[in-house]
Amino acid sequence: MKIAVVGAGYVGLVTGVCFSSLGNEVVCVDKDEEKIARLRGGESPIHEPGLTDLIRRNAGAGWLSFTGDLAEAVRQAELIVLAVGTPSLPSGEADLSYIRQAAVEIGEAMNGYKIVVTKSTVPVGTNEKIKATIASFTSHPFDVVSVPEFLREGSAVIDTFHPDRIVIGADNPAAADAVAELHRELTLNILITDIRSAEMIKYASNAFLATKISFINEIANICEKVGADVTQVALGMGQDRRIGSAFLSAGIGYGGSCFPKDTRALIQIAGNVDYDFKLLKSVVDVNRDQRTGVIRKLEEFTGSLSGRTIAVWGLAFKPNTDDVREAPSLDIVSELIDRGAVVRAYDPIATDNFRRMYDHPLVVWCENALEAAEGADALCLLTEWPEFAETDLGVLRAKMKEPVLFDGRNVFGKEAFALTDFRYYSVGRPHLNRYREASIPL
Ligand code: UGA
Repeated sequence: MKIAVVGAGYVGLVTGVCFSSLGNEVVCVDKDEEKIARLRGGESPIHEPGLTDLIRRNAGAGWLSFTGDLAEAVRQAELIVLAVGTPSLPSGEADLSYIRQAAVEIGEAMNGYKIVVTKSTVPVGTNEKIKATIASFTSHPFDVVSVPEFLREGSAVIDTFHPDRIVIGADNPAAADAVAELHRELTLNILITDIRSAEMIKYASNAFLATKISFINEIANICEKVGADVTQVALGMGQDRRIGSAFLSAGIGYGGSCFPKDTRALIQIAGNVDYDFKLLKSVVDVNRDQRTGVIRKLEEFTGSLSGRTIAVWGLAFKPNTDDVREAPSLDIVSELIDRGAVVRAYDPIATDNFRRMYDHPLVVWCENALEAAEGADALCLLTEWPEFAETDLGVLRAKMKEPVLFDGRNVFGKEAFALTDFRYYSVGRPHLNRYREASIPL
């Protein structure tokens, strides 16, 4: 199939690259000329395992190309994938201006029947608006089909090739079948729904996963008070097939470009039809408090943070990505600075992106984990990069001024500390926490 993908961000680029791997002729379109130039040079603008290899291989074989010319790409295509961003407006609502603009340009460029597949996360009813917008610019026939995307950053290529399911929302069965055919090689588990239900499946899925995380974080907070271990609790809960073990890792809360944005948007979608989504509002509040909890705990360890040196390991919102959008680290590092601490920060790949969002003379940007720990009064582990778990705690201890470790992702186990004097705090595992000892003298 000849496919044009509009928007070469996370979803668009990975989708385009994977469809080209399946033998489709794909052109990825983006307004960002620098991004197009990098892609044409075989370079991926995002860090995503496996993506660069596929870009090079598929572009080299002639299946994949990149352009800034949306009109020409649309004219050549049988199927157009809409994958532009839908960021949050200050109200929490999704900003649909990129969607609207792309629909106008697609409508203007139409030269025959085409299927427009919406992969951007859009509020219920948006695909109908996309259809109306395109229709107002063309008399050519077309169908709009909603195919929400469920890939995760850091494992986007694997997720795209091995989806749990494909959801196709369509009002024309023939268009639904054509889109199902395109996905059949990826999975046979294809669910065809009406368009509004497909749009809702995406928000409901992200909101449910966010709810699971906030739920286990609250259970962790209670575990700390009653002397239970949240990792054991999660294990026991997860063995119930009705609950499932995924997304029950307690920590410092969810971040990223999806859960925070989509939970806010769904609260707003509900609000627009006079429904108060109380549960999801609490999920968002719990997630915010979980981040500030780190600072509270640190102050329990150290007393005032003013003048303290705090090492931070991990800035990305999760491992295997350089993405820091809505990362807990942004709130935590800026709060540490506001409270007068000096921060020594290290992330294997996300430092540059972090500095573009937040920079301060009192943050020392370090080249490796041990350098960040040098002279620190305390260390906060905020992202569970595998290299942190492999740290020799004896060597780490020798670098630090005080042996205080806040493990925001429950990376370390009891054994690790057997021969050290670390005062250790993790999330929801009171028997491991050794923080009630004396606070550090200045
Ligand atoms: C999420 C969804 O998982 C994807 O299905 C969806 O397609 C995507 O949003 C999207 O809407 O585009 P993503 O944001 O890439 O994917 O990352 P996740 O792996 O879901 O993690 C999100 C956040 O939750 C991270 O900050 C992670 O650290 C946190 N998390 C995850 C936990 O705190 N505990 C867990 O048990 C799992």
